Amino acid sequence: MSLVSSLRKALGPAAGCSSSSAPGQCHACPLDLRGIRSQPWWLSSWQLGAASGGGARGGRGAPARSSTTLRASEYDNNPALYTAEDAFSLASYWDARYRREGGVPFEWYRDYGSLEPLLDRHLDKQLAVLHVGVGTSRIQYHMHLDGFRSIVNVDYAPACIQQLSALHADVPGLSYEVADCRSMPQFADGSFAGGVLDKGTLDALLCGESDEADSLAMLRECHRLLPPGASYLMVTHSPPRSRLRYLQRPGLDWDVAFYEQGQQGAREGPVRVEGCAELDAYPKMSYSHFIYVCTRRA
Ligand SMILES: C[S@@+](CC[C@H](N)C(=O)[O-])C[C@H]1O[C@@H](n2cnc3c(N)ncnc32)[C@H](O)[C@@H]1O
Repeated sequence: MSLVSSLRKALGPAAGCSSSSAPGQCHACPLDLRGIRSQPWWLSSWQLGAASGGGARGGRGAPARSSTTLRASEYDNNPALYTAEDAFSLASYWDARYRREGGVPFEWYRDYGSLEPLLDRHLDKQLAVLHVGVGTSRIQYHMHLDGFRSIVNVDYAPACIQQLSALHADVPGLSYEVADCRSMPQFADGSFAGGVLDKGTLDALLCGESDEADSLAMLRECHRLLPPGASYLMVTHSPPRSRLRYLQRPGLDWDVAFYEQGQQGAREGPVRVEGCAELDAYPKMSYSHFIYVCTRRA
């Protein structure tokens, strides 16, 4: 898989927009979005990592390698390795990036301000919520301030879990643990009745060579952890044409709907996928994001 097709499929241009409290406006992004627009989008995506201290450098053609053959320290010592096209799918990449950044917060795609109405509508504040791939996001903290009682945050990069555990040690209802969301046997079936939140994590997984298997394993785990009626919420830059095929695979017994939020604000939603013959009316627009809501059937 080429660099371009890998990233286009997975993270895409909108990954350059880290945090926007109002649709289309980025208040916390380390890069000037006007600059990003004038560049090839994949370059912007990689530069984003470098600009925020993550070490992603320009260049292409590094040999494919797996997370089992590289330790995080090897990434630290050799930033050129970040040119591997599957870096976003490697725990070693994320762990090195978070250690290098020293706990500086970074919010992918959207922050709590712009997502709040949907989180409020589709997650249950009174019940346990699972947040997969927390990274250095602070959305869970804002959810806590807004009344969410219990949020378990997981990531397979130990650095961000250590940083956030220390930061929020005194915050009741927020817990952090290292876990690979493709396999979470420590959690019982149906144990997250409040729902599951994913912001950019499926996207990261889809950057890997084994994207089909990895995404299926992750989605099956999220599905397993939901009781009937609870929802998996996935925030991404990707429109229905490129995400529904992952969300609607056999074994995932849920109803799928989606919202679009873009520069012009939010389109009315949710759009139910069943019976929606107009999916082409939802192409990828600059700096628009999609929020998929997958609700487990009874
Ligand atoms: C694009 S970042 C998004 C971070 C955060 N959710 C946000 O919105 O700012 C993707 C995150 O997913 C994590 N991740 C990727 N694959 C994972 C897996 N299999 N298990 C757990 N975490 C994973 C990465 O370590 C990274 O922190």
